[in-house]
Amino acid sequence: FERTFIAIKPDGVQRGLIAEIISRFERKGYKLVAIKVVIPSKEFAQKHYHDLKERPFFNGLCDFLSSGPVVAMVWEGEGVIKYGRKLIGATDPQKSEPGTIRGDLAVVVGRNIIHGSDGPETAKDEIDLWFQPEELVTYTSNAETWIYGVN
Ligand code: GTP
Ligand code: MG
Repeated sequence: FERTFIAIKPDGVQRGLIAEIISRFERKGYKLVAIKVVIPSKEFAQKHYHDLKERPFFNGLCDFLSSGPVVAMVWEGEGVIKYGRKLIGATDPQKSEPGTIRGDLAVVVGRNIIHGSDGPETAKDEIDLWFQPEELVTYTSNAETWIYGVN
């Protein structure tokens, strides 16, 4: 199955939304294969968001991501990269649908509580940036045959 990088940003951590966010991925049927709490340096945040370095909000965004603890995770499952983004909702919480994480739990684009990789290449790059290979755990969950069926 594919893997994606998901991070609870400092606002989500400070607001006590860690369990709420993890729960949504867990209940969906995705499998948590790596998790840690880190305070990224500003340089690290700039690496993570390098695609956005020409944008006017880049500096503030990197200051914000490095302003406190982040919960960094890797989630695994069929279609998790694309559907994980659906669970998260649109970038701007004013436009996210109710029922999505940002739609239910955030109000403004600069404090949208969660990050998710936007495609297979960025997922790989972000997992490599945030985790050492030995921090990723490969295992079989007993629930898998109930989530996916047996083929
Ligand atoms: P991530 O999952 O965090 O990467 O969000 P995204 O993929 O939905 O959006 P994108 O990668 O385009 O932007 C990264 C982050 O920059 C967003 O999550 C926002 O926090 C922030 N951001 C994006 N657009 C704006 C903007 O117009 N203004 C401000 N202040 N922040 C923005
Ligand atoms: Mg993005």
